[in-house]
Amino acid sequence: MNTPGDNKIAGTLEVVKDAAALAARAAQIVAERLGGAKYPFRIVLSGGSTPRAAYQLLAYQDNDWSCAELFFSDERFVPPDHPDSNYRMVRETLLAGGLVHPRKLAAIPTDGTPQSAAERYDEILRQQYGAGTLEHGVPLFHLTLLGLGDDGHTASLLPGQPVLEERERWAAAVPQGRAEPRITLTYPALESSALILFLVSGAGKRDALAKARRGVGPAGAIVPEGKVLWLADAAAAGQ
Ligand code: 6PG
Repeated sequence: MNTPGDNKIAGTLEVVKDAAALAARAAQIVAERLGGAKYPFRIVLSGGSTPRAAYQLLAYQDNDWSCAELFFSDERFVPPDHPDSNYRMVRETLLAGGLVHPRKLAAIPTDGTPQSAAERYDEILRQQYGAGTLEHGVPLFHLTLLGLGDDGHTASLLPGQPVLEERERWAAAVPQGRAEPRITLTYPALESSALILFLVSGAGKRDALAKARRGVGPAGAIVPEGKVLWLADAAAAGQ
């Protein structure tokens, strides 16, 4: 857990003017990382609404995704064509332009039970990593995009839920806390990232952003192995 003293999670804060500038800057960071990527370049795609605009920009840019393997930070336990599905959101944005062809796209299963789906995703992650235990200095993910909830959650690491204590599995079910059960990457998986890029937009996130960077709340509890960049618009940064 991140203790206030060693808050690596504070990372670097970059403030941009507004939501449109945030989308453009996020797309630029992803494109820069793709430009230097070697296979396998594992990317976590955040769910939620904030990343939509960045995904829409990337959908029509000429980037080379052939080294990329795409994963999801979390998923709502609904069918892939459900309006709440993060996979559907990515399909309708990032993949809509027909130019983004990753080597692999690993959607989180939402069939069977939440528990079995989480176990299957956990297994996919271990297969792609090539080992069953995470090695310091050998990140599971090379770029992890995450959002921030106004309650301080990220992915589906929701306040007060047992998943916050999960330190063995890399993916877990979150049966309570939201309208639908969720499947989420866990702290061990998210912490094994070379770069975590948080995308935070809007005045409603101001308090959660300030607290998270001080190590408070589920997002603040991440103990990152790599770098952390908080990309926020002026409204979220309180400027
Ligand atoms: C989800 C996301 C979740 C999201 C935050 C912020 O599935 O909803 O993974 O963690 O990133 O709730 O959501 P917004 O970007 O919609 O504010």
